[in-house]
Amino acid sequence: MIRAKILGIGSYVPERVVKNDELRYLDDQHVRHDTPRTETNDEWIRTRTGIEERRFVPNDGKTACSDLAREAAVRALADAGWKAKDVDCIVFATLSPDIHFPGSGVFLQHKLGISGEEGCACYDIRQQCSGFLYGLQMADAFVRSGTYRKILLVGAELHSHSLDYSTRGRDVMVLFGDGAGAVCIGPVETDDPLEGILYTRVHADGSGAMDLHLKIFDIARLPYVDYDARNRDENLAMYPQMNGKKVFLNAVRGMNLSTREALEKTGLGWNDVDWFVPHQANLRINEAVAQYAEIPPEKVLNTIQIYGNTTAASVPLTIDHYLKAGKVKKGQLVVSSVFGAGFTWGAGVFRI
Ligand code: ACO
Repeated sequence: MIRAKILGIGSYVPERVVKNDELRYLDDQHVRHDTPRTETNDEWIRTRTGIEERRFVPNDGKTACSDLAREAAVRALADAGWKAKDVDCIVFATLSPDIHFPGSGVFLQHKLGISGEEGCACYDIRQQCSGFLYGLQMADAFVRSGTYRKILLVGAELHSHSLDYSTRGRDVMVLFGDGAGAVCIGPVETDDPLEGILYTRVHADGSGAMDLHLKIFDIARLPYVDYDARNRDENLAMYPQMNGKKVFLNAVRGMNLSTREALEKTGLGWNDVDWFVPHQANLRINEAVAQYAEIPPEKVLNTIQIYGNTTAASVPLTIDHYLKAGKVKKGQLVVSSVFGAGFTWGAGVFRI
């Protein structure tokens, strides 16, 4: 039997650590001032979200999302023992693409030095916090069908440039951080039913699309970008908008149901599973999911405390963080569930 398997993993976060208290003093250029500019505080952020700090890219006008992706991809390729030119397909999941079009996959391909006439396929997917699992499902299907044999799946996000650092945007601004995670996926011949990627199932409910969105432009209208750069702060379309309570409730429900469905369909119990890796949106969401899905708390891996919400990057970044820390071992069995804008959600079961 041919199974798709994760053969390498890598991640990257920028060096700059921004603690909760520092957010109060930052302007939209990430410059720290002496007096507070935003009404928020460490206690509110920790209590409501579990977040203590996050990473920000340098505001050098040069670092794009595909640069974060490249760093993670290089590490994943090294871990798999692949050369970049061996990759026959890139799947890039992000909600913070370098530019509107083309998608970021081609920028990543070029930055990996593998563009040109023989360049591999590049897919961009836009499933926000569910992007990694949607990508994993695509890669699994591509590998098992024989379409591609060496797939680089990357989730990367550069959030810190598109947040509203004023008090108006504080509910969203405090949640997000920058980072990237990548995996190399290829075929293995095996008789073991618990080898490789065992299961993926994803869902969407477009009736929740505007409950968490970033508009920037409205192609149905002319002019389709309707803002004056001098009044950037006046325009809500420039920043993510969120119906926080609705997102919270739907996230707990979607992640709980999809986790239960994953165990039911694979016939596994928590005794068979090494780790549960939820999307890192809010520690309170993950605690509620663990409670409702009856997951042993010691099997739940969280990194939101130190990275914030890194959207499509959060699952591979969390797994790689605990691999590097020695807590997770290669060959262990992971259940992951995610929820994100769209709404989109789902779960997967795979050996790392
Ligand atoms: N600092 C201080 N006070 C704040 C902040 C802040 N950063 N943000 C909001 N407040 C205030 C509000 O203005 C409000 O004040 P008021 O009572 O005077 O009006 C008060 O705190 C309570 O605000 P709520 O919005 O009711 O707070 P809530 O308990 O709902 O928590 C939160 C807000 C943390 C955003 C919560 O709704 C949540 O976690 N939602 C899900 C968020 C999420 O996970 N999003 C991403 C998931 S999907 C994805 O990753 C793409």
